[in-house]
Amino acid sequence: MCGIVGAIANRDVVPLLVEGLKRLEYRGYDSAGIAVLSGEAVRRVRRTGRVAEMEAAALAEGLDARLGIGHTRWATHGGVTESNAHPHISHGELALVHNGIIENHEAQRQRLEALGYEFTSQTDTEVVAHLIHHHRAQGGSLLSALQAAVKELHGAYALAVIDKRDPTTLVAARMGCPLLLGLGEGENFVASDVSAIVSATRRVIFLEEGDTAELTIDGVHVFDADDAPVAREVHVSDVSLASLELGPYRHFMQKEIHEQPRAIGDTVEGIVDAGGFDAGLFGKEAASVLADVESVQILACGTSYYAGLTARYWIEALAGIPCAVDIASEYRYRKVVGNPKQLIVTISQSGETLDTMEALKYAKAQGQDKTLSICNVPESAIPRASRLVFLTRAGAEIGVASTKAFTTQLVALFALAVTLGKLRGQLDEAREGELLEALRHLPGSVQHALNLEPQVAAWASSFAPRQHALFLGRGTHYPIALEGALKLKEISYIHAEGYPAGELKHGPLALVDTQMPVVVIAPNDALLEKVKSNIQEVRARGGEMFVFADADSSFSESEGVHVIRTPRHVGILSPIVHAIPVQMLAYHTALARGTDVDKPRNLAKSVTVE
Ligand code: G6P
Repeated sequence: MCGIVGAIANRDVVPLLVEGLKRLEYRGYDSAGIAVLSGEAVRRVRRTGRVAEMEAAALAEGLDARLGIGHTRWATHGGVTESNAHPHISHGELALVHNGIIENHEAQRQRLEALGYEFTSQTDTEVVAHLIHHHRAQGGSLLSALQAAVKELHGAYALAVIDKRDPTTLVAARMGCPLLLGLGEGENFVASDVSAIVSATRRVIFLEEGDTAELTIDGVHVFDADDAPVAREVHVSDVSLASLELGPYRHFMQKEIHEQPRAIGDTVEGIVDAGGFDAGLFGKEAASVLADVESVQILACGTSYYAGLTARYWIEALAGIPCAVDIASEYRYRKVVGNPKQLIVTISQSGETLDTMEALKYAKAQGQDKTLSICNVPESAIPRASRLVFLTRAGAEIGVASTKAFTTQLVALFALAVTLGKLRGQLDEAREGELLEALRHLPGSVQHALNLEPQVAAWASSFAPRQHALFLGRGTHYPIALEGALKLKEISYIHAEGYPAGELKHGPLALVDTQMPVVVIAPNDALLEKVKSNIQEVRARGGEMFVFADADSSFSESEGVHVIRTPRHVGILSPIVHAIPVQMLAYHTALARGTDVDKPRNLAKSVTVE
């Protein structure tokens, strides 16, 4: 969380910093700030709230500079106040922005206070500004002061620093949080992700753990954790500007919901182009890594965890392998029984969720080195730490509530289940062909589900005034009920819970009354009759039902039972299609309640802290 951008250029960097911060706002949006070197002075503008508010203040101040840094914050240490907003300044000379958490900040603070440094914030970050300043006072360059300072820090950081005594240099450091350098013509950049700088350059260098870097107008120099100069590969990013812009849509979430036929289609195309369900889909080493897998352990957080829960049904049914799914923050802190023949699958849209990364490291430390990452961001930390990788082709996802990343993760996980099944001789060629054909038809079925939007939007008006909602599903649709509840709560702030429909009688039925809408995901599968019984249990208590069914489910509307039907029954891929209406229900309910759909309160898209 927190987004960083910095620039050194032959032109005014203020608009570049502001644009970059707007694109990084998904990482945190409590407060924003920039610091620039203007003439002889470091000038800073900070505001609580959104980047737009800070931008207005920067315009009013008439800032114009060739060197500067910016930050958008998701508060960890210290509340959401202007004095806690970044950049932090030491002695009016050095300005710094930080993403991450400095674990030994208290000890460093005491030490620096004893040296006469005065603190004006409650953040862990201000310590780093003073610490670099302290080292700078011992002589040497800004870079060497940064290199000395980071060796005294414990924790995670991405840092960008400017100093008025060094008007031709921007320095940066990375440990545990993403940071890249952007290479332009007569201008260079540092940023948390490429979206922040893509309108200026696509040529990027991903810093490695422990790297520091020095940027001037003419070039960049990277140093490894031992301060030795290193050459890091230059990548050309394929992130498109269109994927970062709203276009005709009102919200990124709405845009991303509607992009799903394309995102799923692109992900399926990758599978088809690779020749179908083949180990090679997951990387060069995959055939040997997957050959003797005995079990699968999935690790993830949030929506990605629900993708994992869905995959368990597929992996056990199609591959006949036991599969466990854990929330990453739980797994990493419990004693696990390591099995070197277990495949560890991490799922992460961003590839940088701290708990997922730490769970992966923990799994490896238990001697489990068969690791696969399903991720949407190439070159991010989690795939880089995994032996096998499947990159979903969702494109940039900006809305905090995940949508297209989720459905493309499900496609990837389905491909994994079939591939494992094939490797284990569980599936004959005909069945494999049927499953590939089902995937090919998926974008069309998702489009049909999207066409239900007016009907779903009409339901949203019934949800908007409610305080609570219950989502029920069975089998592969139980995780979709969980995801529906999560979507609703995170963007509309209505308390919602997802339950396996069979658990209704074991607790949640006590909550059901006329004020509790109950959403049921009830496609025509082997569990339909059981779901119908659950619906009767709710109706008998006066609960109002909102049922998502499909073409083949034999349901009819009745008093208190509303039904929306997806036009096709898509068999085993049905949970992917049923994700669409629950996303739309959350979106339209949030619209009706007037919440900030893309930036729900207190949340951030990329969670790089515990
Ligand atoms: C945050 C986001 C969610 C996401 C979760 C896991 O909570 O708001 O949308 O599902 O993190 O993120 P990841 O990038 O690891 O999938």
